[in-house]
Amino acid sequence: MSDTLAIIGGTGLTQLPGMSISNAHDVQTPFGSPSAPILEGQMDGHRVLFMARHGHPHRVPPHEVNYRANLWALQNLFATDVIAVNAVGGITRNMVSKALVVPVQIIDYTYGREATVYQGELSGVTHIDFSYPYTESLRQLLLKSARAVSEPVINGGVYGATQGPRLETAAEIFRMEQDGCDIVGMTGMPEASLARELKLRYASLSVVVNPAAGKGEGVITIKEIEENLLEGMERVKRILHQSVAAFYRR
Ligand code: HPA
Repeated sequence: MSDTLAIIGGTGLTQLPGMSISNAHDVQTPFGSPSAPILEGQMDGHRVLFMARHGHPHRVPPHEVNYRANLWALQNLFATDVIAVNAVGGITRNMVSKALVVPVQIIDYTYGREATVYQGELSGVTHIDFSYPYTESLRQLLLKSARAVSEPVINGGVYGATQGPRLETAAEIFRMEQDGCDIVGMTGMPEASLARELKLRYASLSVVVNPAAGKGEGVITIKEIEENLLEGMERVKRILHQSVAAFYRR
């Protein structure tokens, strides 16, 4: 079977406009149930899989997402490439609200999450190389697609993955900035490393929805997050639509 693109939608993206759905797969995995049925369908005549990371209609918070089941289920339906959409807070100067970012590196601050598919009786190597956590070809596909629809995106940046569900303190963000983080979110890990374990190509399209703690004026409000999310996701959808076309044209 040829390559298949899957999209994992984050907060604000629970379905893909322009996708005609032919199947909703209730996949059971060795790790339990995914967040939602995986939607299979066509976009401009191409096979696409879509999963709502936080469930649909149920809301699974970032620290309770069954990342292992989600990724395993996508692979089970023959996904080869995964584009993840993530809402994030902006830390460094260019990472302003509504900016779209295709990050290049990750620092993982999460804890207590089920972070590997390697368990039980194992034979063979279980230490994946994770030097470059995102797949460069898929990053380039996103960047090229964004250019094609004239949507500015920031190429690069370090994604700091926090445990949540609370937002960070200003001091934590200060420390993350010292560490080299540009954006902060709660869903980037272990999703990216599980994708690598399962040999799925993986990249993130991140949407800045608020200045991270201590970086804006006053406290972070859900209202500002929701407003930025709404606008950001419209742009994300245009890029994704173009990415699907470009993926199958390669
Ligand atoms: N911190 C962590 N996760 C987030 C944020 C944030 O500021 N905004 C959106 N997701």
